[in-house]
Amino acid sequence: MTPGVRPLIAGNWKMHGLAAEAQALARAVADGAAGLKAEVLICPPATLIAPLTQACAGVVALGGQDCHEAAKGAHTGDISAAMLKDAGASYVILGHSERRMAYRETSHRVRAKAEAAMAAGLIPVVCVGEPEDDRLLGRAEEVVAEQMAESLPDGFGAAGGVVAYEPVWAIGTGRTPTEADITAMHAMLRAKLAEAFPAEGAGLRLLYGGSVKPGNAAAILALPHVDGALVGGASLVAEDFLAIARAAG
Ligand code: 13P
Repeated sequence: MTPGVRPLIAGNWKMHGLAAEAQALARAVADGAAGLKAEVLICPPATLIAPLTQACAGVVALGGQDCHEAAKGAHTGDISAAMLKDAGASYVILGHSERRMAYRETSHRVRAKAEAAMAAGLIPVVCVGEPEDDRLLGRAEEVVAEQMAESLPDGFGAAGGVVAYEPVWAIGTGRTPTEADITAMHAMLRAKLAEAFPAEGAGLRLLYGGSVKPGNAAAILALPHVDGALVGGASLVAEDFLAIARAAG
């Protein structure tokens, strides 16, 4: 945890949630999140952002899971940052490895999306993370540093942007890096953020994501430069997600 920084516990619901169950989940999270030290964010499918604003009751922030880089236009099936904002979002996840892989999103495209998000008044949560091969070849830090450098636009610091380190091989697998590996990666990312954004880099939130569960959250969140978590599977169970949020202090 970085001293003086309010932790952020973000739930990425991915492609899960129909109206009724989503309402119940959001309400349960909002009930448990009141008064916590951590800021709590849920990123449901875009169709659920507007319907969940009431359940979140200003206690839990809402975010999208992606946006297009253009403000509007002929982009069938896409959604703009302004549309997410209009629906009630204040954050948007960008460059998740599932999108980098399934839609071949490059870091340059992620950067353009982050620019669009900031222009619409959303806080971008930019994901970076190495595939397992790069970890095994000893080049995880190099790959992640390059991804981050290419994905963050000018003004990211002033916008209060968030970076989430999510090793691809830790997502949905129950496996996590060692505490030493998370610490080393986050220290490297912190140094690069401070260099790229001298005014704000030391205080920007740096999340860890990948198989964060109630059982490992406290240990991970206690590591230096880990200012919160991006949670997939465990964010779909209110008690589990809240236990992780409580572990942030
Ligand atoms: P899991 O927590 O299910 O491993 O997912 C992590 C993730 O991809 C969050 O964006």
